[in-house]
Amino acid sequence: MGRTALILGATGLVGGYLLDDILENNKYERVRIISRSEVLKKHPKLDTYILDLSQMEDVREVFNVSDVFCCLGTTMKNAGSKEAFKKVDLDFPILAAKLAAEEEAEQFLIVSAMGASRNSSFFYNRVKGEMEERVKSFPFNGVYIFRPSLLLGNRKEFRLGEKTAEVLSIRLPFLFRGNLKKYAPVKAEQVAKFMAEKAIKGEKGIFIYESDEMNRLQKQEQS
Ligand SMILES: NC(=O)c1ccc[n+]([C@@H]2O[C@H](COP(=O)([O-])OP(=O)(O)OC[C@H]3O[C@@H](n4cnc5c(N)ncnc54)[C@H](OP(=O)(O)O)[C@@H]3O)[C@@H](O)[C@H]2O)c1
Repeated sequence: MGRTALILGATGLVGGYLLDDILENNKYERVRIISRSEVLKKHPKLDTYILDLSQMEDVREVFNVSDVFCCLGTTMKNAGSKEAFKKVDLDFPILAAKLAAEEEAEQFLIVSAMGASRNSSFFYNRVKGEMEERVKSFPFNGVYIFRPSLLLGNRKEFRLGEKTAEVLSIRLPFLFRGNLKKYAPVKAEQVAKFMAEKAIKGEKGIFIYESDEMNRLQKQEQS
């Protein structure tokens, strides 16, 4: 029997690429998404559930899949407050992991961020660090945490930090060599591809991947 997937954040940059990848991958026979906003994509393998994510418990059976992918996230600017930020980057992922564990999903894969640490002096990294600790505590066969530095890709919204990193990585690629390799921006498309590959490989344990590892895979493929 083929694998089944649930993607949260499928309308986002990483989540959008992941959705495309997984729909085209014949290892997956069904793909589900839960989203607060309308998703235009139609595909014979795709089931879409539109709801406020604080209501995820109402559709808990949707979490009964092989792999749950969480690509949710917001920015302080969009969230408007620390509390609203934590709702998206901590509370929803934890609720998703809880429901996935209770519904016996095999694997949980989540996008975190470089520098995630419960002890960080930066709020963003602290929230990601706490999310990671909590997610790791659930009894999945596999927990996979992906920590990109800056993400590259075309998004509708302009984000100065991402644009600057993109220009630097194209014009001055030598900046991200040696010890600074892990700071190199990574294509959102590459993160998505890496996530899908790890899910299909299906190893048991807790795994954390940094940007340089995701970038390395891309370079191997190009050589
Ligand atoms: N951007 C970077 O450079 C960077 C760097 C390191 C790590 N990360 C992390 O990587 C992950 C993916 O980033 P991304 O850039 O692909 O994200 P993105 O494009 O901003 O997409 C975020 C997703 O989360 C959903 N979402 C946001 N707020 C929500 C809410 N209140 N209720 C329900 N859904 C909500 C969005 O849905 P809607 O379409 O409905 O808004 C969208 O599907 C995030 O966790 C982010 O923190 C990003």
